[in-house]
Amino acid sequence: MKLDVKIGDIKLANPVMTASGTFGYAAEYKELLNFDRIGGIIVKGLSLEPSTGNPLPRVVETPCGLLNAVGLENVGLKAFIRDKLPFLQTLKSPVFVNIYGKKVEEYGELASAINSLDGIAGVEVNISCPNVSAGGAAFGVDPDAASLVVDQVRKCTSKHVMVKLSPNVTDIVRIAQAVEDAGADSVSLINTLTGLAIDSETFSPMLANVTGGLSGPAIKPVALRMVWQVASNVKIPVIGIGGIATATDAIEFIIAGATAVQVGTAMLVDPDCHGRIVSGLRAFLKRKKFESINDIRGRLIV
Ligand SMILES: Cc1cc2nc3c(=O)[nH]c(=O)nc-3n(C[C@H](O)[C@H](O)[C@H](O)COP(=O)(O)O)c2cc1C
Repeated sequence: MKLDVKIGDIKLANPVMTASGTFGYAAEYKELLNFDRIGGIIVKGLSLEPSTGNPLPRVVETPCGLLNAVGLENVGLKAFIRDKLPFLQTLKSPVFVNIYGKKVEEYGELASAINSLDGIAGVEVNISCPNVSAGGAAFGVDPDAASLVVDQVRKCTSKHVMVKLSPNVTDIVRIAQAVEDAGADSVSLINTLTGLAIDSETFSPMLANVTGGLSGPAIKPVALRMVWQVASNVKIPVIGIGGIATATDAIEFIIAGATAVQVGTAMLVDPDCHGRIVSGLRAFLKRKKFESINDIRGRLIV
């Protein structure tokens, strides 16, 4: 059974990747799993300067999901290169650095710094961040702003540019097409859906930040719908994300049109779930008599 897939020029041994923010910088999982079983690795969102993120509490469980307002805490570019990169360079699976900024220029600076690093396959550009030069609305909710970011990143790197889309929009296809036109090599979706959890006893929000991003099984149907819509309307590869915890979940995304998938919240419950998902994909192909995972991609019958 063939599980290898291609995202642009990048070959993944299997389509199951890690999602940004639930896998740290990989080394944290050293004792818990076999990295060779992971198709591709996306590390925690990186900014130019270190960030301490939002005040606590910043994570709360909700029915079938997780609401987080971690606030993109990270070590910053300099410490990433000094302390985190050497371990990442020992891994066999392609590694992508998830980047974010508050201004278009910051994305460019990050992309250009990462372009010179050995052992990094590309960047995943998180556009679900407030654009401070335009009143604070996220880049990813406006096709023009999204396209400016991608255009800048494209000019600054020859490595793979994966653009991670926000689901907090009315028409995700318009954003996907805008970033494709601006030079993205692939799109990944979805990031978290904005939510609110309330403690009725105290009349207070559960998170210090008030709102947070919803992830986990609760968002899977929304993610599947968006992946299907985007995959039907762009030519570049689509990476599906949202509530994936089992091989069946991953298969559903591939049938909807995804070339690969990312697993986020499920990693926090079962750090070695990639191995289980990959074995399940193989068993599914065998049972259904397909030779390659690529044979089921986009085969949704509507
Ligand atoms: C605790 C936590 C931290 C996250 N941090 C990031 C991040 O730094 N950058 C990013 O693009 N997405 C981040 N995400 C979003 C995930 O990568 C993923 O898009 C989302 O959680 C949906 O997938 P899931 O349902 O499998 O978790 C984070 C999610 C969680 C739960």
